[in-house]
Amino acid sequence: MASIPWSVAEDSLDVNFSVPQLLRLRCTRDCFAEDWDQVLPLLKTDSAKARVQIWIDRSVVESNGAVLRNLSQRIAESDEAIELVAPIALVDGGEQIKNDPDAIENIFRAIDRDGLDRRSYVFVIGGGAVLDAVGYAAAIAHRGIRLIRFPTTTLGQADSGVGVKNAINAYGKKNWKGTFAVPWAVVNDQTLIANLPDRDFRAGFSEAVKVSLLKSPSAFRFLCDHAKAIANRDWNAVMPAIRSSVLMHLHHITHGGDPFEMQEARPLDFGHWSAHKLEHLTNFRLRHGEAVSIGVALDTVYSHLVHGLDISDVQRTLNVLSDLGLPLFDNELAEQTIFDGLEEFRQHLGGRLTVTMLRAVGQSINVHEIDQSAMRKAIEVVREQSLVLSR
Ligand SMILES: NC(=O)c1ccc[n+]([C@@H]2O[C@H](COP(=O)([O-])OP(=O)(O)OC[C@H]3O[C@@H](n4cnc5c(N)ncnc54)[C@H](O)[C@@H]3O)[C@@H](O)[C@H]2O)c1
Ligand SMILES: [Zn+2]
Repeated sequence: MASIPWSVAEDSLDVNFSVPQLLRLRCTRDCFAEDWDQVLPLLKTDSAKARVQIWIDRSVVESNGAVLRNLSQRIAESDEAIELVAPIALVDGGEQIKNDPDAIENIFRAIDRDGLDRRSYVFVIGGGAVLDAVGYAAAIAHRGIRLIRFPTTTLGQADSGVGVKNAINAYGKKNWKGTFAVPWAVVNDQTLIANLPDRDFRAGFSEAVKVSLLKSPSAFRFLCDHAKAIANRDWNAVMPAIRSSVLMHLHHITHGGDPFEMQEARPLDFGHWSAHKLEHLTNFRLRHGEAVSIGVALDTVYSHLVHGLDISDVQRTLNVLSDLGLPLFDNELAEQTIFDGLEEFRQHLGGRLTVTMLRAVGQSINVHEIDQSAMRKAIEVVREQSLVLSR
C-alpha cells in the first residue's frame, strides 16, 4: 500500500492522468514498390511474424491494377516478417460501405475468423469511407487492433487519414456510430492518388482550404495562387498543398489539446454543419469534399455578414474553391431542412451548439448561436456567386 499516494480514508478521488500516444505518418512516392522499406518497419512484433489482414477499396484496384499486384508481390517477398492471415479483401468503396450494416458485419466476422488480436495489423487502403468503416471495425474488435491507413483520395491524404476518428452511418445520420482511436500509422502515398478520377481528386482540396482558413494565411495564399494548377493535377502544386494540409491537421490533433473532442468546439469542422446535412439531403450525390466546399463558402460569407471577416477574404475563398473546380452551391442548401443540420451538429457533440466561424484568415472564433436570417442571406450570396463564377 505504501506506493499508493492516496489515503484509504478518502472516499472521493479525481485523478488526472495522460497516456502517451504515437501517430506515425509516412509520406511516400510508391509505397508498394520502391518505398516498401518505409512500410515494413512499421510492423513491430514480439512474435516471429506480424499477422496482417488487408482491405482494399475496389475502385483503387479498378483504376490501377498495379497497386494490388505490387502489394501482393511485396507481401510474398516479406514472408519472413509478415503472415498474411487471409487473401487480400476487396470492398465496395464510397459512402455505401458506411451505410451498409452487412458490409461492416463482414469485416467483424473476418477479423474473428482470422484470429486477429491486439498485436495484429489491419491494413486499409482506400477512400475516406473505407478507412472509416474498416477503422471502425478494427477499433471495436478486441477493443482495438493496430490500424495502418493508406488513404487513396486527396481528402484522405489531406485530412481524414491522420484523424483519430472512424465511424459508420446509422439511423439516417452520418457518423452516428464511431469511436476515437489513434491509428498505428498513416502512409500518404503519391501513387495511390495518381489514378483518382478528377472529381474526387479535386474534392479533397476543400479540406485544405478549410484548414488553411482556420490556421494559416500563407497556406491559404498558396492555395489561391495554385488552385488552377492543383485542379489540373500539377504535382508541383498538388504535393505541397496536401503536405501542408495534412501537417496542419496533424498538428491540431497532436498539439491542439483536444484530440478526442471532449470540449465543446470542433474547429476542424468549420463549414461542416451544413456539409453533413447536404450529404444526406442529396442522398450522397455530393461527395463529402464537395459538400464541405459549399459549407465553407457559406460559413465564410456568414462570417463576413455577422463576424466582420473582410469581404476581400470572402471573395478569395469563393474564387479559390471555384478555381479548384469545386461547387459553391446546391439547390438543397436553399431548403429550410438545411437548418436541421445545426441541431444534428449540436447533438453529435452534445452540450450547447458550438460552430466555428472566422474573424480573419487564420483567426477563428466559436459561436453558440446562428442568426437564421443572416444565414439565409449568406445562402443567397453563395447562390448568386456560384452563378457568376461558373460563367
Ligand atoms: N474520420 C474522419 O476524421 C473523417 C474526416 C473527413 C471525412 N471523413 C469521411 O470520409 C468519407 C469521404 O471520403 P473520400 O472523400 O475519400 O471519398 P470516398 O471514400 O467516398 O471515395 C470516393 C470514391 O472514390 C473511390 N476511390 C477511392 N480511391 C480511389 C482511387 N485511388 N482511384 C479511383 N477511385 C478511388 C471510392 O471507391 C469512391 O467511389 C466520408 O464518409 C467522410 O465522412 C472522415
Ligand atoms: Zn470533412
